[in-house]
Amino acid sequence: VGEENADHVMSLIRSIPGFPKEGIIFRDFMPVLADARGLSILMDALEAALPVPADQFDAVAGLEARGFLFGPALAARLGKGFVAVRKAGKLPPETVHEDYALEYGTASIEIETSAVKPGDRVLVVDDLIATGGTAKAAADLIEKCGGTVVGFSFVMELEGLSGTDVLAGYPLSTLVTMP
Ligand code: PRP
Ligand code: ADE
Repeated sequence: VGEENADHVMSLIRSIPGFPKEGIIFRDFMPVLADARGLSILMDALEAALPVPADQFDAVAGLEARGFLFGPALAARLGKGFVAVRKAGKLPPETVHEDYALEYGTASIEIETSAVKPGDRVLVVDDLIATGGTAKAAADLIEKCGGTVVGFSFVMELEGLSGTDVLAGYPLSTLVTMP
């Protein structure tokens, strides 16, 4: 994307110490989305950094809520459909369900069983990987439905939380690594 473009995106990522809990530095990419140039650079970079070529997957799955902000746009660019991985309790039956831990709590996510068909090859996208708990739970859901996770695309990766170890074995791309 070029150094100037990368610097522009980095300058827009907001860091909020102590949110949502003491000891956490919250990394907020919303200002990147709010900026016309930032959003355009971000979408180009995600497309350029796919962990596997686009002809090796059928759908893009995004994680509620921040993976919903760019996952469908990326899917549309690539000519793929979008699968919504939702927080538990929002989807009508039948769903598959996973409980997981994340950097600042625990949660449960679900997908509609019919959203992923046996044999579907799926790329999973989210804004950020911290512990990797959320991303791993999403992969488990997709695989429970008979799908194959071909890899993960993240905007940001937090260092020191071993998130990428949790996803060892999967191709993975991240645009920005942060402490
Ligand atoms: C954040 C972020 C990732 C997840 C990463 O979502 O968007 O989905 O945490 O953390 P992990 O790697 O430790 O699992 P959050 O659950 O805060 O929800 P939101 O997207 O609805 O804000
Ligand atoms: N999700 C998990 N950890 C996070 C952090 N430090 N900032 C933003 N989102 C997160």
